[in-house]
Amino acid sequence: MRYQQNLAEAALRLAEKSDRAGHLQRTAELAAKLVDSIAAEFGRVGLSQDEVLEDGQLVTLDERAWLAGILHDVERYGSGETPNFPADELEKRHQSSRLLHAALGAQWSWDRGLRDGGVLFAIRYHTIGHSEPTPLLCALMLADATEPGRAFPGLSRLRALMRKEPLAALKERLTSTTNFVKSKGWRVHPNALAQIEFLGQLAG
Ligand SMILES: [Fe+2]
Ligand SMILES: [Fe+2]
Repeated sequence: MRYQQNLAEAALRLAEKSDRAGHLQRTAELAAKLVDSIAAEFGRVGLSQDEVLEDGQLVTLDERAWLAGILHDVERYGSGETPNFPADELEKRHQSSRLLHAALGAQWSWDRGLRDGGVLFAIRYHTIGHSEPTPLLCALMLADATEPGRAFPGLSRLRALMRKEPLAALKERLTSTTNFVKSKGWRVHPNALAQIEFLGQLAG
C-alpha cells in the first residue's frame, strides 16, 4: 500500500483520459529517486521537514515525492477556481501556457482530502517555483523536466549534471526556461527568478 494510494489511483485514472498517466508515473518515480540527495544538499533533513505521520505510520520523503509526482499535473487541462490556493494575475493571464494547472492540481488534491502541506506546496508551485523552495518542490520540478519521456536539446548533459548535483541541474534548467520566456517577450514570473537566486546561494 503506497502513501495515499486511493488518491493516487484516482489521479491516474483521470490522467489516462488525456494520455498523461505515463508522465505522472515517470515523474513520480524520478522525484522519489532524487529527493533524498536534494534534501541532503539542502542540509536540513529532519522529521518535521521531511517525514509525516499518517495513521501512526511514518511516511518517508521519497513516498511523499512520489505522491507529488503522481498528482502534479492531474489538472493539466482543467479550469476553475482555487479557493484554497489563490493564483496570481500572471498565472491566471497565462491560461494558454497553463500556469494555473499547478494551483488547480493542489486544489483537486485538497478537495479529495490531502492535508500534507509539503506535498500540496510542491504541487502548487511546480510551474512557477518559489522564493523558499523545499526539497520536495525541487525534486518535483527537476523530475518533471527530466523524466525519461522528455526530449530537448541539452537534456543528456543536464541529466549527467543531475546525477552529481541535482540542485545545480535545476538551477540550470530554470535559467534556460526563464531565458526562453524572456526571448519571447513574455513576463518571467518573479517566483522563478527568486528560486534561481535561492539555488545560487545554496550552491555558493
Ligand atoms: Fe505541470
Ligand atoms: Fe508535469
